[in-house]
Amino acid sequence: MRRFFVAGNWKMNKTIAEARDLMNAMLPLLAGIDNVDIAITPVYLAVPAMVEQCRSTGVKVGAQNLFWEASGAYTGEVAAAMVAEVCDFVIVGHSERRKYFGETDETVNRRLKAALEVGLEVIVCIGETLEENEAGLTAAVVTRQLTEGLAGITEAQAAAVTIAYEPVWAIGTGRAATPEDANRVHRDVIRPLLVAQFGEARAEQMRIQYGGSVTAENAHELFSMSDIDGALVGGASLKADSFAGIVKAASLVAIADRRAS
Ligand code: 13P
Repeated sequence: MRRFFVAGNWKMNKTIAEARDLMNAMLPLLAGIDNVDIAITPVYLAVPAMVEQCRSTGVKVGAQNLFWEASGAYTGEVAAAMVAEVCDFVIVGHSERRKYFGETDETVNRRLKAALEVGLEVIVCIGETLEENEAGLTAAVVTRQLTEGLAGITEAQAAAVTIAYEPVWAIGTGRAATPEDANRVHRDVIRPLLVAQFGEARAEQMRIQYGGSVTAENAHELFSMSDIDGALVGGASLKADSFAGIVKAASLVAIADRRAS
């Protein structure tokens, strides 16, 4: 039976005070939903405050990035152990990191390894650009990102890894991938690569989130697809009711799944 993983990536939004207000509004709406893994990633500076506020709520808190070196003269960076001291998981390889900050598949892989070494859970983001999509390169790009991003990761380590498929053209555009198109990439490209690297049993357990203009309105249809195991939510995670609506959609689909099985 599937257990969905819905994570809100707040990106560079919310001061600590604003983050507190948002969680004050959000937590009551999420209370009682215990069949979905729920998480948020605020900016680094707000992570400790959110960890404190979410303690014993079941909402996990993570960071949006980390650096692979353990310490040293890397002004502005935060090491994996420093993240792990405060929270449980981290996102690596977000397309905004790739686009604005020179992230490559190789640096994604270095961050992933550093994160796993200190026991963090990791969401690894992949996804093609509009040009790549229109050129019919989606499968090729996703295959390269996943193969190079996950290089050297073992089956045991993969237990801590979630994949987020976020087509770049769908992020922040209001134009989500259709559930069928997203599912096709999850089922026909990503899952088989996970099976090849980690074996059937592990690959079946790993969650593949979809990200890109997920809303409370389209979430149910997305989660109803066979290989969409959750969502990485940007804009809609900045409002309590829309994020809670997405989590509730996951909860309802999980209940329906259980009845059907
Ligand atoms: P939107 O939900 O705003 O499209 O952002 C998706 C995303 O990038 C989450 O990491």
